[in-house]
Amino acid sequence: MSETPIDEVAAGDLEALHERLEREAGEVSDRAGWEALRLAWLGRKRGRLKALMGRMKEIPPAERRAYGQAVNRLKQAVEARLEALAAALEDEAAAAARPALDVTLPGRRPRLGALHPVTRVSRAVEAIFTELGYSVAEGPEIEDEEHNFTLLNMPPGHPARDTQDTLFLDGGLLLRTHTSPVQIRTMRARIEQQGGGPPIRVICPGRVYRNDNDLRHSPMFHQVEGLAVAEGITLGDLKGTLEAFVKRLFRPDTGVRLRPSYFPFTEPSAEVDITCPFCAGSGEIDGAAACGTCSATGWIEILGSGMVDPRVLAACGVDPSRYSGFAFGLGLDRVAMIRYGIPNIRLLFDNDERLLRQVRG
Ligand code: DAH
Repeated sequence: MSETPIDEVAAGDLEALHERLEREAGEVSDRAGWEALRLAWLGRKRGRLKALMGRMKEIPPAERRAYGQAVNRLKQAVEARLEALAAALEDEAAAAARPALDVTLPGRRPRLGALHPVTRVSRAVEAIFTELGYSVAEGPEIEDEEHNFTLLNMPPGHPARDTQDTLFLDGGLLLRTHTSPVQIRTMRARIEQQGGGPPIRVICPGRVYRNDNDLRHSPMFHQVEGLAVAEGITLGDLKGTLEAFVKRLFRPDTGVRLRPSYFPFTEPSAEVDITCPFCAGSGEIDGAAACGTCSATGWIEILGSGMVDPRVLAACGVDPSRYSGFAFGLGLDRVAMIRYGIPNIRLLFDNDERLLRQVRG
């Protein structure tokens, strides 16, 4: 880099010198290279620009002015290039000196988890009923026919058994088709306790299973069973309790309607409808469009219920001449779908994180 004067200098080829500057600057990788470059071009004694200026007297007077300006432009280019190169080298050195771990950087926020919509609804139901004096009980998901059917007034051969597409296991066992067997287990356990028995107020949330699979049914879903047994319990208590419950769970103006129905373990039995929480029972959204949630009927069916059949009480050791009770069974998945506007039950069990983020609210 120091072999001056050089061909281009000798030839006064200023264009070629600009190119040469770029080429040599591109090869500089450290401070020593930078200093050598500076000396080669701007050195007071042997620098290329010094040599070019020295040739001024050989230039014909008419061309001297233009020549001088061209040499000046080259000098400015050299100076600018050296300055940029120095800044780049400095940045590189600073980056190399920086520690790999910058402890002054703000931390990364951990991603927040969220409860599953069914868990949220289950907890909401539990909270409401515990305030009403109920306790929470659980039972096994693998049941026997005795608890799942027989003691609930569905003896072998009873046609109602066929309506619950049961998944049978070996040895007389099955996956429970509803949470109602927990009624039986709870009553029996309470009766056996010293000073136990009624009054009994309990809810039993949990998974249940049926051989059923489409947009509205999943082979595994969730129910919560409710049971209240005491002296003098009436259908009015059932309706009042359900009203208090749905007003808390949905909205304060929610209305309740009991429709006569049939379940083997209750007598009388009722299906319970509530006014649609989206259209407030009007069947219309904004006074115009048909409400899609309730199919414009204004009502949504959410649970089955009734007065506990005296035979069920008796089978559990509760004296039906003294005590009465009501029971109900609510589909938690269905409530979650209504509450969060989830159209397809499978979305609940796909484990797609986006669903959780949407319902986190
Ligand atoms: N076990 C019923 C089912 O899964 C739901 C049910 C209806 C539960 C009426 C009850 C009841 O406790 O009284 O279809």
